Order: sequence, then C-alpha cells, then structure tokens
Amino acid sequence: MNQTKVSQLSLTFIAGARPNFMKVAPLIHAAKACSDIDATLVHTGQHYDEHMSAQIFRDLDLPQPDVHLEVGSASHAVQTARVMTAFDKTLDERPTDIVVVVGDVNSTIACALVATKRGVKVAHVEAGLRSRDRAMPEEINRVLTDQISDYLFTTERDAAANLRAEGIPESRIFFVGNVMIDTLLKHRVLARERTTVLARLDIAPRAYAVCTLHRPSNVDSAESAARTLEAVSELGSRLKVILPLHPRSAKQFQQFGMLDSLRQSATVVEPLGYLDFLALLDSARLVLTDSGGIQEETTVLGVPCLTFRENTERPITITNGTNRLVGLNPRRVADAVGEILASPTSPHNVPEMWDGHSAERIIAILQQSAH
Ligand code: UD1
Repeated sequence: MNQTKVSQLSLTFIAGARPNFMKVAPLIHAAKACSDIDATLVHTGQHYDEHMSAQIFRDLDLPQPDVHLEVGSASHAVQTARVMTAFDKTLDERPTDIVVVVGDVNSTIACALVATKRGVKVAHVEAGLRSRDRAMPEEINRVLTDQISDYLFTTERDAAANLRAEGIPESRIFFVGNVMIDTLLKHRVLARERTTVLARLDIAPRAYAVCTLHRPSNVDSAESAARTLEAVSELGSRLKVILPLHPRSAKQFQQFGMLDSLRQSATVVEPLGYLDFLALLDSARLVLTDSGGIQEETTVLGVPCLTFRENTERPITITNGTNRLVGLNPRRVADAVGEILASPTSPHNVPEMWDGHSAERIIAILQQSAH
C-alpha cells in the first residue's frame, strides 16, 4: 500500500532561568499543537527553586520538562560548562533538527554553542537586542548566541540593524514580535480574576509602586547596593513600594547588612509567581526596575517604568512605550517619580507585532524551512 509519510520536525526548546519560562511557554504550546512537530522541553536547572521555577511552570501551564539537567547555581564559567556537558549528552540521547534558545542567560549561550558545534541548527528567539555594555554578562551571551544562530527571531525593528552591523546575513533574520508579550496577553485577564495579591498585601490599585532590582551592577558591591537602597528609599518616601526580592539581591543585601534598611523603605516579599506578579504590575502606579522583560511588560500594560540602569537593550520601550532610563542616580529617580505622580497617565503605543501571535509565527517559519 502506498502511504504518504509526513516527515516529523524535531525541535528542542531550552528553558534555564525565570525569564526564559515566559518566552518558552507559548513556543512549546504552539509546537505541541502541530502534528508534524516532535517537541522536547529541556530545563537546564539554572533556576531551580519553588519561587524561581516551579510556581512559574504551574502558572504558565508548562509541561514537565522531558529532560532536566539540574545544573544549579555556580560561577558563570562553571554554570555554563555544566550546561554544556549535560546538554551534549542530551543531544546524544535525543537527536534533534533545531535547538531553540530564548533570551540572554547563561543557558542560552551554553546550549547554542553545544548545538552548533554538533552541526545542529540553532534558532535564537529575542535576537539582536544590544545594550552595548560588555560589562553585562547578558550582552556577551546575546552577541555570541546571535553569531552562531541559523534563525534569528527579532522583537523590534532596530534589532535587525544591530545584526546586520555585526555581519549577520539578512536571510537569517525574521521580525516576528515578542513571545513574552504572547504570554502576557494570554494571562492578563486570568491574572486579574485569579489573584489575591492586592488583598494579601493590603494595597489598592494605583496606590503603590512595584520595584525589582537584581542586576549584578546594582547589588553585587557594597557601593552599588547602597546606591540602590537610596533609590528605593527615595521612591518609598513618596509611595508604598512592593519589592519582590530576587535571591541574588537578598543574599547581597544580607551580606552588606542592608536588608533591614531595605525593609524600612519597602514591603519586601519573596519572588512572586507569574500571575501574581502580572496582576501586581497591571495595577501599579509606577515601576522601578533593572529587568529587561519588565520594561517590555510595562510598555504593553501602559504603566510608567523607571529603569535603574545607564542603558537599555530595548530602546523601543522608550520610543514607543512607558519606559525611561534614570541612570544609576537616586536623585533622578526622585525627580521622575515626582513627575509621574503629577501627571494622570503616560501616552504609549504597543510596538508593532506585539500582538500575541509571535510564537505561532516562529513555529510556522521553522516548519516551512524544514520542508
Ligand atoms: C539570571 C540571568 C539574568 C536574568 C536573571 C533573572 C545570566 C547571566 N543571568 O541572573 O539575565 O535577568 O537570571 O532572574 O544568566 N538562586 C536561587 N534560586 C534559584 C536560582 C538562583 O536562590 O532558583 C540564587 C543563587 O544563590 C544564585 C543567585 O540566585 O547564586 C543568582 O542566580 P544566577 O542564575 O546565577 O543569576 P541571576 O542573577 O538569577
């Protein structure tokens, strides 16, 4: 009997650290909806605890990983090397057509490097973002991952210009929008309906600020932690501040003896699950952060965002969105907070293609390329 065999495309998705999970979720869901795709989910274990991983997996309805590399925390070199060694074995046991990496964490570059050296194609989701600050570990991860990727999926048009300037051929670049925003749009209503976070923290909509700070440059030395503390205290003197504290920052503030002072300026809580955090952001009056993803999320939610950094790899959140860079200057934080509190709303536009369908576009492109 003459049967037509549909050839299967095998995709391996890498999720390592918290910001990866929101990006991988829509991709894995879109891939699993296609009968001609075999999807494998690998969790490297870069983030591993209840707050940083398990709760987010549940909130996003992510399937249990097919493979868990359990690398844990270590120095950059050791963590990257552990992911590489373990993922190399995974590819021995589970050959694949394309390895899909997202974002800019150590797991991203580690898995991309293993795959490309084995002749396996690499797709990088969120390619081409550049802070032009090589002191950021994420910038090194971004530049290197893009150089060795076969498919570069970008979130904003500026990213393609960055890639071209680094010699990446046009044929590899695909402008598809933002998968993290796919996840936000899918969960926004659910977050509002399900969460009790505002009641638990005894806060009313628009009557508080949200603050997240964890970049090494803001917490890893006593001097930078003191500056960060001053910024939080400027904010805290004007508005109630909810500060879900990242484990890195908790450790550093503790070590420098500054945790009690931080608690005096802000309501410090454990890192929150995805739905709780989204609901908290959505009803905030303003946000102070050094995160990349939160600059994008506040842009879509229309919530004013102050980025406590000298640069951003996401300029569209400033040109279109609600973001402004305040540098590493607590005085500028105070001035910007004053301005925001004096104006009722901030005008913003949702960037092109941040429409909830980016993951579907990516999977369709990978499918076409395989046939
Ligand atoms: C990593 C990413 C960063 C991302 C951030 C989001 C890199 C280079 N950095 O930074 O881009 O913005 O994740 O969270 O990949 N820890 C826990 N539990 C966990 C994970 C970590 O307690 O589940 C603690 C460990 O003590 C560890 C510290 O947090 O030493 C830092 O974790 P690590 O993954 O090394 O880097 P992040 O600062 O989280």
